[in-house]
Amino acid sequence: MNPILIRGGHLVDPAAHVDGRRDLLLADGKVAAVDMPGKIKHSAAEIIEAKGLVVAPGLVDIHVHLREPGQSYKETIATGTAAAAAGGFTTVCAMPNTVPVNDSPETTRWMQAPERGAAVRVFPIAAATRGSMGENLTEYGALKAAGAVAVTDDGKPILGDSVMRQALTAAARVNLPVIQHAEDTRLTGGCSMNAGALAFRLGLRGMPVQAESGLVERDIRVLSEIKDSRPHLHVAHLSTKAALDAVRRARRNGLRVTCEVTPHHFALNEEAIANYNTNAKMNPPLRAEADREAMIEGIIDGSIECIATDHAPHALHEKEQEFERAPNGITGLETALGLSIAILHVRHKLPLSRVIALLSSQPAAVLNLKGRGTLAVGSVADVVIFDPQKQWTFRALQSKSRSKNTPFEGWTLQGKIARTISEGRMVYGG
Ligand code: DOR
Ligand code: ZN
Repeated sequence: MNPILIRGGHLVDPAAHVDGRRDLLLADGKVAAVDMPGKIKHSAAEIIEAKGLVVAPGLVDIHVHLREPGQSYKETIATGTAAAAAGGFTTVCAMPNTVPVNDSPETTRWMQAPERGAAVRVFPIAAATRGSMGENLTEYGALKAAGAVAVTDDGKPILGDSVMRQALTAAARVNLPVIQHAEDTRLTGGCSMNAGALAFRLGLRGMPVQAESGLVERDIRVLSEIKDSRPHLHVAHLSTKAALDAVRRARRNGLRVTCEVTPHHFALNEEAIANYNTNAKMNPPLRAEADREAMIEGIIDGSIECIATDHAPHALHEKEQEFERAPNGITGLETALGLSIAILHVRHKLPLSRVIALLSSQPAAVLNLKGRGTLAVGSVADVVIFDPQKQWTFRALQSKSRSKNTPFEGWTLQGKIARTISEGRMVYGG
């Protein structure tokens, strides 16, 4: 692995408070030097000219479904991480709703083995309960030792108060966050979209906002009742204003609650499924316009600290069914940065450094991923280089993912990735 010198770029490293022209030297998989343009000399380094480009920490996605083990017809760790690299991500955290469910140290280690052919770093998130059945806790200490960075039953919620209390307590003991997919499934049986007038018009059963906010409120209550430790609750793919308000209140009360929002929940509202487009069907569903706007507000005011894709590949034959039968989920790794820049930075004037923080340093902090999400000297040599001005058209056929289930086909996005470097290796572009 040769040293790499990235010259003349505009470095945006929110965690290190850098937002200006800098050169960057990568060596031995680490950031070796950061300095003013022209200051770093290295005769043996490979040179990357980054004039006019932004150089940022490799993006960190704490919510992806890579489908291995067990569903490699949808995605593999190799294809999913190739899509990650193409989208500027150098770290992805893989959800446990695989086949079998990742509830063991063995599967957790298997997912990280070199044989999987990952292009970027994969950190597994292990199941919080055995088989994600919501009953008996898995072994958090052993899972953490095997490389798991959080526990969750994502795809399914932990419904029982007592199991949630046990999960938060046990996870706090080994300093792991509990990630909740907040959906009170007692209110969402047979539902395939958001509840409201549009569901009525389409003749589909709708999931009420309260199915999300009610469970977030329940989780916060359980969290507040645990007095002898300080557990960390992370709310996955937040989609409603009511749930966001609950998170805000909890934080004001000093509780350790974090949350993420997906690009699709700030880019789209429920109208995207008005023609029964199964490529816009996901869980949580696209919501009303007021909820979409609330997600943007929550990002802008800092209540939401991460953007996570919930990259959820499904095969064409699965999505080409009646709306109610089609599986939930859309791909997201290759559209996240372009949507975030186009919508948050260009349309809503959020500074680019904040967009980058939402996609790198903040998610890394939420899951305590040391040395990632920053380009300070000594950090992991994970870098994305992109043209922040360049508009481009997203084409699913060109995607590196094995699946093409996206509602963003043909969209004009802004911010074109030139290169992605993972642990000092060029994994995309060039
Ligand atoms: O849309 C979704 N897709 N939501 C989930 O909770 C699960 C995910 C998947 O695994 O496909
Ligand atoms: Zn989920």
